Amino acid sequence: MEPGLRHLLSAGDLSTAQIQSLLQIARAFSKPINDGESIPILQGKTIVNLFFENSTRTRISFEVATRKLQGNVLNFAASTSSLTKGETLVDTAKNIEAMRPHCLVVRHSSAGSPNFLAKCLSLPVVNAGDGFHEHPTQGLLDAFTIQEKLGEIKGKRVVILGDIAHSRVARSNIHILKKLGASVAVCAPPTLLPPKPEVLGVDYAYRPEELLPDADVVMALRIQMERQEQRQFPSLSEYAKFWGLNKERAKLLKPHAIILHPGPINRGVELDAEIADGPRSVILDQVFNGVLVRMAVLAAVCAPEALSAWLKTANTATVNKGGAHA
Ligand code: CP
Repeated sequence: MEPGLRHLLSAGDLSTAQIQSLLQIARAFSKPINDGESIPILQGKTIVNLFFENSTRTRISFEVATRKLQGNVLNFAASTSSLTKGETLVDTAKNIEAMRPHCLVVRHSSAGSPNFLAKCLSLPVVNAGDGFHEHPTQGLLDAFTIQEKLGEIKGKRVVILGDIAHSRVARSNIHILKKLGASVAVCAPPTLLPPKPEVLGVDYAYRPEELLPDADVVMALRIQMERQEQRQFPSLSEYAKFWGLNKERAKLLKPHAIILHPGPINRGVELDAEIADGPRSVILDQVFNGVLVRMAVLAAVCAPEALSAWLKTANTATVNKGGAHA
């Protein structure tokens, strides 16, 4: 396992070995975190959550992940900051860097903002979602959830259904799932796919009925009104009728197929409530797994030596108990 990572800016930058290593580290954290323990890997480290765009799951799970690793966390909220007085993104980040934190976790509505900050600062930067570019920790937590529920990802058919054109989640998932050997297909109305869908390097269809019968995993995506300059389909009810995952469409799925959604859900649009809350849904497992994966990323970026030492101890304890290696 190679636990060190300078930044995490894009799932596209990660090698297959790095993805596997991060998922393996997250798995090693699973038992102690499920048992309510904390792990002293980030002691003395300060992580700043620099969120310029709203978030519930990502911001809070980075905060929980830092605390579970016994680090300190500071939360920056754009609406109460000096951005409102005209300070620039880079000045804001440089002033925060001057206070000597150990890592910035950045969410921004502009694609490429975390990459730009990584070039301007000496600090490690973790991308928590940038515009419609990437959301690498979401892709990692989705892969972790699929592995946990279905075993090996290699050979599984994953159908990503919804607003592909504006989705950073789709982009990160495509990078990660393809590297792990999944067969990926996307499905959306033509206006919610890139003009040349083949650039995504995956199969595509315009109607869910063509793809659902072969799916092991369906990942429904939110319709992102905030990233559409004009509505790309006639009405939400029309979208729900032809592309929403409802009870009737779910009947097309194989018995073991699972349903993911990154959240937040537009209930009654991309997912009916009985699907979101039904037996195939693993949406809340995704949220818990987000803490484990973000712990793995923060530990790999901020404290690779402490992480290596902890993994050796965890491995030794597992082997001494006669179990498998972490
Ligand atoms: N999945 C996700 O990024 O959710 P938040 O916007 O609530 O962080």
